[in-house]
Amino acid sequence: MAFVTTQEMLLAADKGAYAVGAFNVENMEMVMAVIRAAEEMQAPVILQTTPSTVKYAGLAMYYANVRAAAQQAEIPVALHLDHGNSFSLAMQALRTGYTSVMIDGSHETFEDNIVLTRRVADACACAGVPVEAELGKVGGKEDDLDCSDPGYTDPEDAVKFAAETGIGSLAVAIGTAHGIYKGEPKLDVERLSEIRRRLSIPLVLHGASGVPDEAVRECIRRGISKVNFATELRIAYSDGVKEFLKKNPDAFDPKKYGAVGMDRVTEVVKEKIKVCGSGGKA
Ligand code: 13P
Repeated sequence: MAFVTTQEMLLAADKGAYAVGAFNVENMEMVMAVIRAAEEMQAPVILQTTPSTVKYAGLAMYYANVRAAAQQAEIPVALHLDHGNSFSLAMQALRTGYTSVMIDGSHETFEDNIVLTRRVADACACAGVPVEAELGKVGGKEDDLDCSDPGYTDPEDAVKFAAETGIGSLAVAIGTAHGIYKGEPKLDVERLSEIRRRLSIPLVLHGASGVPDEAVRECIRRGISKVNFATELRIAYSDGVKEFLKKNPDAFDPKKYGAVGMDRVTEVVKEKIKVCGSGGKA
C-alpha cells in the first residue's frame, strides 16, 4: 500500500477512540520489524525518525526503506519527521516524501514557537502534509534535546497556539519524559482532559516507553490519538543482538543477529499496538 498522511490516520483514531502507534526506527531491520508487526496486527502505523537518526543515514535512506516495506504491506503506513529542529530540515523531509512532519519549537518562547510552527505548517499545507508541533516541554532526553526542566502544556495557550499556527496535531506535555523513567511517571490526566475539551485537533503523547500500559490507555480514553515509542524499541533491538552475540561469540554475519533484533522489535511493537487499540483498524 502507498504511504498515507498522518492526518487521515489520526482523525480516524480520534473518531474511533483508539490511538495510532508511532515507532522510532534507526535502521532497516527496525523498519521491517515495525511494518511486520503492524501487518500481523492489521494496524495503521507511523514510522518516525529524529534529526540524529536522519544524520546517521539520511532522509532518503529511511524514505526508501520505509516505502519499500510499505509497498509490500496491505496496511496504511505514514513516515513522520519526529522532533524536526529547523525549518530547513522540515522542508527537506517534505521534499524527500515524508508524509508527516513535526516541528519542535517547544524550547523557544511561546511567540517564537508560533512563528516557526506557522512557517512550517504553511509550507507543508501546500503539499497536503500535516504538521505536529509541541507546546510545553516533554521531559527527559530525546535526540540532542535535553529537557531537565519540563513544563506542562497550558490548555488556554494550546487553543491559541493551534488557532495561530494551523497545525494538524499537538504534542502535549502532561508529565511523560523521553528515555527511561527512574520511578513511575505521574501523569496530569486532568490537564489532558481539559486540553481535549477545548481543542479538537488530534493530540499526541510523547515519551511512552516505560509508561504503564493502563496509564497509556487512560490517556487514549482522554483524547490521545498518537502515541510515540522509541526507547523500548531501541532496547529490544540491542538486547536481541547482544544476547545472540553472547551465545555465539564467533558469529560474523549481520543477518544472523539482525534477525534476532528484528524479532524482538516485532514483539514489542505488537504489544504496543494492543495497548493503543489500533489492531484491526487498518
Ligand atoms: P520514548 O523514547 O520515551 O519512547 O519517547 C519516544 C518519543 O516520544 C519520540 O518522540
